Amino acid sequence: MLLRGERLGEISDDVLEFISSRDADRHIFEADLLVDRAHLVMLKERGLIAAEELSEIVAALDGIELARLGEGEDVHEAIEAELIARVGAIGGRMHTARSRNDEVATCIRIVLREELLGLMAEVNGLAEALIERAGEHKETVIPGFTHLQHAQPTTLAHHLLAHADALLRDFDRLRDSYHRVNRSPLGAAAFASTGFDIDRKRTAELLGFEGLLENSMDAVSTRDFLLEALSASAILMVNASRLAEELILWSTSEFGYLELDDLFTSTSSIMPQKKNPDTAELVRGKTGTVFGSLVAALAIVKALPMSYNRDLQEATPNLWRGISTTRGAVRILAGAVSSAKFNKERLEAASGAGFSTATELADSLVRRTRIPFRNAHQIVGALAAKREVPTIRDLDEVAERIAGFRPSERGFGKKELEAALDPKENVAVRSRIGGPAPEETGRMVADRRKRIEENGCLIEEMKGRVDRALAALREMR
Ligand code: ARG
Repeated sequence: MLLRGERLGEISDDVLEFISSRDADRHIFEADLLVDRAHLVMLKERGLIAAEELSEIVAALDGIELARLGEGEDVHEAIEAELIARVGAIGGRMHTARSRNDEVATCIRIVLREELLGLMAEVNGLAEALIERAGEHKETVIPGFTHLQHAQPTTLAHHLLAHADALLRDFDRLRDSYHRVNRSPLGAAAFASTGFDIDRKRTAELLGFEGLLENSMDAVSTRDFLLEALSASAILMVNASRLAEELILWSTSEFGYLELDDLFTSTSSIMPQKKNPDTAELVRGKTGTVFGSLVAALAIVKALPMSYNRDLQEATPNLWRGISTTRGAVRILAGAVSSAKFNKERLEAASGAGFSTATELADSLVRRTRIPFRNAHQIVGALAAKREVPTIRDLDEVAERIAGFRPSERGFGKKELEAALDPKENVAVRSRIGGPAPEETGRMVADRRKRIEENGCLIEEMKGRVDRALAALREMR
């Protein structure tokens, strides 16, 4: 082993396996080589290594493969050992003015920023799928629920746009966290920075970071950036699981509001008739996995004294698990939403069920007869207790008893009653900002489409900045 030498002597396989991060380090192998290159280029520019040493070391790094790495408690040690095996003692210059502490933190940030951009693209894709389906169903009147009880009619567009807006906020949270992730801890060394005349801003620039994590003690010891990405993912999964739950519920024969495409379902090994919404169920289940990743990471880093502690190594695999689980869930949901068949007839037939037009009946009474809303609420409540669609005679009778007047004598007749009880009319009059009326959901669809396009451009821009920096770095030798 490269590091123990005469200081510590041999290590047992058991202890080595216990302290090793080699398995999770596969995620940061490529990033580590980039960090090596940036650091070496900077060392050369500052006159801390010779130009020929840079070329020789970089050429050797080019040939290093993850699968062929030898021993070492982590990928950093294994790469350095392999480098020295290839170029001899000058390979040992690479770790000048550097520690694995700033190295690993830099690697995690490089991989995480890429994962975040990928996740952002997937979230944007799911929001887009919802918005497109909403655009197809501006006129589709459906039951709206509170307490999972029929509440008021709405439209499918309105319902799908509600999920889309939640996801657009998730996008914003991920984008915000990206800017705090995309900062360089490199050059902090173990924690106290270094007496070598290094240029931290230069390595940050070479690696495509937006700036520095300045305080060298903070730089190596914080994992708040990873907690933030996991938190945003956990919140996103709360939203994804709500959508998944409705896909499950709505595809039961009791609801029958939609049918998932075969691709997103499974059947039973014993019940040949079954078509189960397994993908949506797994999104719901994986939400627990992502929460677990966040809670594990929080618990691991809490109350750690300054600065680097090996506990931090234990947080990282939770990050990769949390983010990749979230990405998979969002991607699958986008496919399920795009291909789902909504049962328009059934949705429309159910839209007035459970006297869901009662609110509009009370509202219409107020608008037409000028009685206080509470009186109207009491009148319609009394009608609802009878559990049948009211006739104008029922209404007159109840209103007279409760409020001392007959609506039909104050301009609220059969025609007004019918309009109030029509789910389509209910939706049509709800045209205020954010309401379900087709003109309003149409406006929201157009507006959100623009947001989707802007988000796409933003991702391209952020990705382009990083890609250009890294492409240039790969050419340096
Ligand atoms: N593998 C470690 C990690 O993931 C980085 C190495 C720092 N090790 C150390 N003994 N200072 O955090």
